[in-house]
Amino acid sequence: MGLVTLKEILAGTREGHYAVGGFNFNSYEDAQGIIEGAAAKNSPVILMASMGAVQYIGLHQVAGMVKGMAESVDIPVCLHLDHATDYALIKEAIRAGFSSVMVDASAKDYEENIADSRAIVQFAKLYGCSVEAELGKVGGKEEHIVVDDATKAYTDPADVPRFVEETGIDALAVAIGTVHGFYKSEPKLDFERLEKIVKLTDCPLVLHGGSGVPVEDFKKCVRMGMSKINVGTELKATYSKAVRDAVAATPESVFDPRKYVGPVKAACAEVVKGKIDIFGSADKAWKC
Ligand code: G3H
Ligand code: ZN
Repeated sequence: MGLVTLKEILAGTREGHYAVGGFNFNSYEDAQGIIEGAAAKNSPVILMASMGAVQYIGLHQVAGMVKGMAESVDIPVCLHLDHATDYALIKEAIRAGFSSVMVDASAKDYEENIADSRAIVQFAKLYGCSVEAELGKVGGKEEHIVVDDATKAYTDPADVPRFVEETGIDALAVAIGTVHGFYKSEPKLDFERLEKIVKLTDCPLVLHGGSGVPVEDFKKCVRMGMSKINVGTELKATYSKAVRDAVAATPESVFDPRKYVGPVKAACAEVVKGKIDIFGSADKAWKC
């Protein structure tokens, strides 16, 4: 089918009471597993490469690989650059064919966040690429972005309308209590805050830090109007376990690397299928 933008893939999510999963990948195996899991569920899917993943695989390699994957399935696939703080890299990714980027200026003050996000939106528009930005500061550690308890800040609903209006973004990441990485204690989501934000904007909302969020909390977020839910750490852990198990189960005389890393595909596909059931996006491929 080819790549679609974030705007296209999230259209109708709020009214349809489902969210599209944004899944981080770091190599061919997990990316292909994510696509296969989504295709098995006939669900739209967002493949997300962090700056670290892009550095590891190569920018054009990521773009070419995921474009090829998208063309081989009949579901909408969006290729998204996640948590990008390097604006030169964002522009390169847009030129290389990413269909969506996240400009993460959440560490900056409100006015600077607006100015930077708006500048990226204006550039992205020239290429028909979508843009996600973050308001507030999601806690935890996401590769190069580390937000400790003293720094993290929930999204102030009052800041939302002007931010969305002046930036022209296609999706808004909100901080409502989730954190990046595995949780040390049960997450406590601020649903009242989410309710206020939903009432104040039509802009599709994004929940970061999806690994370890209880199923009922996910479902409540989706019912309330969350449009995109990001999952990264759980897939990294799944990847590692699949490789470790395969290595442990295979005699040393076997030297075909596909025997060791191949199982990652099915393992990641299973995680993705489970999340799609929770997010309600199965059989929504036709919606995009
Ligand atoms: O942007 C990526 C996500 O927010 C991933 O969060 O690694 O906690 O699942 P997670
Ligand atoms: Zn995130």
